[in-house]
Amino acid sequence: MDQHRVVLLPGDGIGPEITAVARQLLEVVAARFDLSLTFDEQLIGGAAIDATGEPLPASTLETCRAADAVLLAAIGSPRFDALPRDKRPESGLLALRSGMELFANLRPVKIVPALIDASSLRPEVIEGVDLMVVRELTGGIYFGQPKGRIEADGEERGFNTMTYSNSEVDRIARVAFELAAERRGQLCSVDKANVLDVSQLWRDRVNALSSNYSGVEVSHMYVDNAAMQLVRAPRQFDVLLTGNLFGDILSDEAAMLTGSIGMLPSASLGSEGPGLFEPVHGSAPDIAGQDKANPMAMVLSAAMMLRTGLKQPSAADALEKAVDQVLAKGFRTGDLMAEGCTPLGCKAMGEELLRAL
Ligand code: IPM
Ligand code: MG
Repeated sequence: MDQHRVVLLPGDGIGPEITAVARQLLEVVAARFDLSLTFDEQLIGGAAIDATGEPLPASTLETCRAADAVLLAAIGSPRFDALPRDKRPESGLLALRSGMELFANLRPVKIVPALIDASSLRPEVIEGVDLMVVRELTGGIYFGQPKGRIEADGEERGFNTMTYSNSEVDRIARVAFELAAERRGQLCSVDKANVLDVSQLWRDRVNALSSNYSGVEVSHMYVDNAAMQLVRAPRQFDVLLTGNLFGDILSDEAAMLTGSIGMLPSASLGSEGPGLFEPVHGSAPDIAGQDKANPMAMVLSAAMMLRTGLKQPSAADALEKAVDQVLAKGFRTGDLMAEGCTPLGCKAMGEELLRAL
């Protein structure tokens, strides 16, 4: 029997509700596929600030680094907006990504046929969309030095630094090239090379690497155009490679092609060690604790964890099939509700998913 240690990070807002659903499903799937999954719940984000004063306690990072995979729900709450930046929930997530050296963030966006009418875009625009955003996650302007707020010329000035080295671009570009080679062989690298030096270096490195991947066709797009093309003709994209900040923005935009950000999983990977799997959506404080959350992005993140992190493709398939089946039967959480469908809360959706399993 395969032994896998999974760290669960429920975090804030709707996090605990969707974690409970995912955990139950994982337990059932483990029994079915003869996997031994052990779960260790740890604190992060606002929940950790309340308990310890720190958004990422040292014990959480240590436990995560020693695990086989980490499944995170969501962090963040407006309750902490007044705290200094390094004490806020978001800083816990950034410190976790950085502390686990998770430089590659994969955000797949695939249209689910049953949800084609849930999108704010016309069905003929989004039909067949199947793309992967590959976002650099531990560098760029999120982590660049120097940064801060200073007094200069009699006023206050805030600044950050967008910076990438050759090696940082190369390692994320390789991930994107390899994914593209397994998919439809198209890699679109997104930058702002018409304005930014850091983007020119990014583009030069992607071009330099492309000779090693003869099966992959490389194109480059400025980020403003990419934002436009994503809503104009999203089918043109296979793998989208981009830096940390542009990837943050474009992945939310790409997520909405599917109608709800409540459907999208993600994986954050390093060159070795455990991966971190999490829904793309946030903690949704406005609906927290009301049993209204859509647990499906979390369940699909658990599936991604099984497939990519724990190498259990059959178990991953089973979870993904359960989601498809429940949607095909017309069950919907509030974010996806449409005429003729059956509205369910988070818990009831979890029970339908269990039944489908
Ligand atoms: C995301 C989120 C985070 C980010 C926040 C919560 C720090 O928006 O995972 O996309 O900006 O990376
Ligand atoms: Mg984001």
